[in-house]
Amino acid sequence: MRELEQEMLSGHVEGQTLKMFIHMTKAKKVLEVGMFTGYSALAMAEALPLDGELVACEIDPYTAEFAQAAFRESPHGAKIRTEVGTALETLQKLADARESFDFVFIDADKREYVKYFQILLEKDLLVPGGFICVDNTLLQGQAYLPAIHRTPNGEAIAQFNRVVAADSRVEQVLLPLRDGLTIIRRLP
Ligand SMILES: C[S@@+](CC[C@H](N)C(=O)[O-])C[C@H]1O[C@@H](n2cnc3c(N)ncnc32)[C@H](O)[C@@H]1O
Repeated sequence: MRELEQEMLSGHVEGQTLKMFIHMTKAKKVLEVGMFTGYSALAMAEALPLDGELVACEIDPYTAEFAQAAFRESPHGAKIRTEVGTALETLQKLADARESFDFVFIDADKREYVKYFQILLEKDLLVPGGFICVDNTLLQGQAYLPAIHRTPNGEAIAQFNRVVAADSRVEQVLLPLRDGLTIIRRLP
């Protein structure tokens, strides 16, 4: 059995916050980019109606199988469809299939956040009026440190925050919850 990195987990407060957002927005189709052991996916799935669906992307087959075993134990697991592969390939595949989502949670490779965001809007994977929640947008404060003190992930998040703030297709707010959770709304 392989050891999994515990710090990857979003944790209980964030999971329950996401679940509450799904209730509040009445989302029926949810996309998660970066599933890990499936904690946040299952938290959001709990708030979906019986005919709702959550598509969860994960690059690591071992982690994906670990999550699927947990989903099989839950009455809400049947609402989750797992896509194993790189997030960028999966997003392209979903766009080719003309799928669209009311709510997206981004939590995979920080250096690809800008690409995920652009693809979601440009390929209409996010419906007009839909929401994107993005994890780690404070990145331990690095996003607001002088550039010289940032790691590559810190630089990527600083760049992501600038890109989103400058994009007139969306409005956004960064909640200082845990490592920073940005809520983005695509304007109708
Ligand atoms: C921070 S963890 C996700 C935690 C999960 N959302 C939760 O709250 O329980 C990030 C996950 O994204 C996956 N990941 C990293 N880069 C990826 C990529 N390019 N495409 C798809 N998944 C990726 C990692 O393998 C890892 O499982």
